[in-house]
Amino acid sequence: MNGTGKTFYITTPIYYPSDKLHIGHSYCTVATDVMARYKRMQGFDVMFLTGTDEHGQKIELKAQAAGVTPKQYVDNVVAGIQQLWKMLNISNDRFIRTTDDYHVESVQKIFKTLYDKGYIYKGSYKGKYCTPCESFWTESQLKDGKCPDCGRDVIDAEEEAYFFKLSAFSDRLVQYYEKHPRFMEPQSRLNEMVNNFIKPGLEDLCVSRTSFTWGIPVTFDTKHVVYVWVDALSNYITALGYGNEKYHDFEKYWPADVHFVGKEIMRFHTIIWPAMLMALDLPLPQKVYGHGWLLLEGGKMSKSKGNVVDPVVLIQRYGVDAIRYFLLREFPFGSDGLFSNEGLINRINADLANDLGNLVSRSVAMVDKYFGGTLPSERKGEPLDEEVLSIARSLLEKYETQMENYAFQNGLIEVFKLISRTNKYIDETAPWVLAKDEANNPRLASVLYNLLECVRICGILLTPFMPETVRKIFEQIGADDAITTYESAGTFGLLPQNAVIHKGDSLFPRIDVAKELADLEASKQAPKEEEKEAQPAAVQGVASLITIDDFAKVHLRVAKVVACEPVPKADKLLKLQLDDGTKAGRQVVSGIHPWYEPDALVGKKIIVVANLKPAKLRGVESNGMILAADAGENDVKVIFVDDSVPCGSTVR
Ligand code: ME8
Ligand code: MG
Repeated sequence: MNGTGKTFYITTPIYYPSDKLHIGHSYCTVATDVMARYKRMQGFDVMFLTGTDEHGQKIELKAQAAGVTPKQYVDNVVAGIQQLWKMLNISNDRFIRTTDDYHVESVQKIFKTLYDKGYIYKGSYKGKYCTPCESFWTESQLKDGKCPDCGRDVIDAEEEAYFFKLSAFSDRLVQYYEKHPRFMEPQSRLNEMVNNFIKPGLEDLCVSRTSFTWGIPVTFDTKHVVYVWVDALSNYITALGYGNEKYHDFEKYWPADVHFVGKEIMRFHTIIWPAMLMALDLPLPQKVYGHGWLLLEGGKMSKSKGNVVDPVVLIQRYGVDAIRYFLLREFPFGSDGLFSNEGLINRINADLANDLGNLVSRSVAMVDKYFGGTLPSERKGEPLDEEVLSIARSLLEKYETQMENYAFQNGLIEVFKLISRTNKYIDETAPWVLAKDEANNPRLASVLYNLLECVRICGILLTPFMPETVRKIFEQIGADDAITTYESAGTFGLLPQNAVIHKGDSLFPRIDVAKELADLEASKQAPKEEEKEAQPAAVQGVASLITIDDFAKVHLRVAKVVACEPVPKADKLLKLQLDDGTKAGRQVVSGIHPWYEPDALVGKKIIVVANLKPAKLRGVESNGMILAADAGENDVKVIFVDDSVPCGSTVR
């Protein structure tokens, strides 16, 4: 059970299957991974959950535009996300997909339970809806008539819908926050939530949709699908087996110790989610930590702004540990931070190549050079050693205080204080001078031993941040598992007196800043073109390359739109009759109604994928797919062809 202090349940948000995750997305997952590794090192039984949030209209539209089923679409993208987490050395214990059967089953039960208890009722929804954010807004919440989260246009929506009695929970929520002052962190988020959302009055929340089908059906009214946030938030308990037989550790891990989330989804996690849990009579998570955003000059990193920074490219160039370190060292976890390539390279050079890398390589090299790799056991300490030793002895406690507060940056700063002080100690003791006279060997051995011990202690505390690098460090200084446990960072002097080192490669080669920045600038252009061509299969910037034979499998034909009409009861769909040079012609359904009225298409020539498997969209048969370009986050342009090209011509 929770509360015994033995378990630690930590989660990331579940990610939307976006074809392109940027370094901002990696931020939260890396931070969660660091915390999970830290807690494991402390001996906790950790459950680290991450996953993907795969339902909703946005996905349905993307899949339609790509001419695949929603499931095919998400399968492809999710595989890429999992691959990125592997590259980032993410040690999640579980990965939930909201399309997993057990999750679907649990969400259906949760919805039914809330309905049976009277917390969900049927009504009619009128309001504003932001499709990209899957968010409903009231008129008063809009900012200049646009979505207050993303600034994009909202649409009018009215339909029969189920509602969750969120309004009934205002008082209980406020009482809960008062009784648990550290429920939200950083503390500033609490005022934001109370002032912006609770004080103006909570309205009941629309929790079902009928205008699209890519969601979890409401079992007792199957034309409705469950609102994607109710579906998504539930993941934190369904992944433990709540309401399903797939897993059985709900009792063990719930309530979660902490949900890590980006600040823009704080509202869902500190208002809607707690209210759902209260309605279900379940305990609330101990804490929701709303971290800041990584910004680029000009705003939040996001696909629509076109200023994406590809984590894969960065990992390939600098190594995963440098990226992990940078993300947590450069920015305080609760605040926004400005990302730049220059900041990254400077940080790697200053902290990792200079401070840490040099300390390790100098220490090991001197043991090798002066004592053939094995320290003699005779020692001579001096008062000069005391300052370094006392910093080393008190480091664990200082580090732990910071880490327990999720102050990753400060935790690292503490470790690097010892690293810097130890480098200074090398200059103070000048081992190369001592080495000139054999009579100094006991003193020299003391100095070098102290260096190795400081390296060992720093290594332990850096383990959650840079697991691979630390493994190499321990190899080099000859520290085995027994003396690299978390507790052993609290004791100075655990390396054997006759410590044996193993010289290794330099951990972080110094980077030539000017040259690197130029290279990065150049590499920005090249892969972008590839990505465009490979859309929508381009995943995480690893453009999936295909051969000419693969391409030849796709039969593209020019066709003329001879008739076009909306598909009834489907906002997005148009039914097009095409003259594709065959006698029979063909019928295609396309999700382009948001961007084109039927009249704008009739008479135009377009390109159709002629050998796509037939599919039924909203019950209407579709034979093929017409090519269109993603002209922006929420804009689509059909590719028109010059009228001189005959119908039925092959495009290749
Ligand atoms: O919000 N800097 O998913 P998501 C820092 N599916 N963090 C960033 C960021 C940036 N530039 N850009 C994105 C969702 N993130 C929902 C969650 S949970 C039940 C459902 C963070 O893929 C963002 O703040 O849009 C969020 O925490 C996470 O990436 C996933 O975002
Ligand atoms: Mg626990």
